[in-house]
Amino acid sequence: MIRRAIYPGSFDPVTYGHLDVIGRAAKLFDEVIVAILKNPGKSPLFTVEERMDMLRRAVTWPNVSVDAFEGLLVDYAKEKRATVIIRGIRAVSDYEYELQMALMNRRLYPEAETIFMLPGEDYSYISSKLVKEVFSLGGSVSGLVPRFVEQRMREKFKTHTQYPVGGLNPNE
Ligand code: PNS
Repeated sequence: MIRRAIYPGSFDPVTYGHLDVIGRAAKLFDEVIVAILKNPGKSPLFTVEERMDMLRRAVTWPNVSVDAFEGLLVDYAKEKRATVIIRGIRAVSDYEYELQMALMNRRLYPEAETIFMLPGEDYSYISSKLVKEVFSLGGSVSGLVPRFVEQRMREKFKTHTQYPVGGLNPNE
């Protein structure tokens, strides 16, 4: 039986923390689908297409693919015949929300198991939100995201006047 895992998230944008988790998951499972949530409620910095494109560029493992989904994660997982949901946990503060999601997902789809993975300690404090904030205020994010992501952020912040310095979009 093929073990197919889904790694869902916003990935706005992908960071080395995400990539660290993807690399670890790629070793554990036959197939890993990195799935970007199309969430109309959030106003992300990058479009879903841009985020997919960046992820596809950053993902080098042959058993990892990139996709997008809308609606319930468990419905998408069923459709893809995936029985594992991967989430990266950094600090204890992540746990409460992750626990709620994992238990709700288990209730909705008992055949699937949520696996929490720890990113490498160098990445345990990185979040897309913090990366965007630091970058928008002129700080260096080198080593936290791939170089081409940094470049895309530079282009975005040049053209996006809705992200003024000091007033960052509060998205992941
Ligand atoms: O990177 P994020 O923003 O922390 O990812 C959150 C995500 C996409 C995993 C979560 O919001 C999700 O699964 N949304 C899909 C809708 C859904 O299934 N909601 C019920 C979750 S219990």
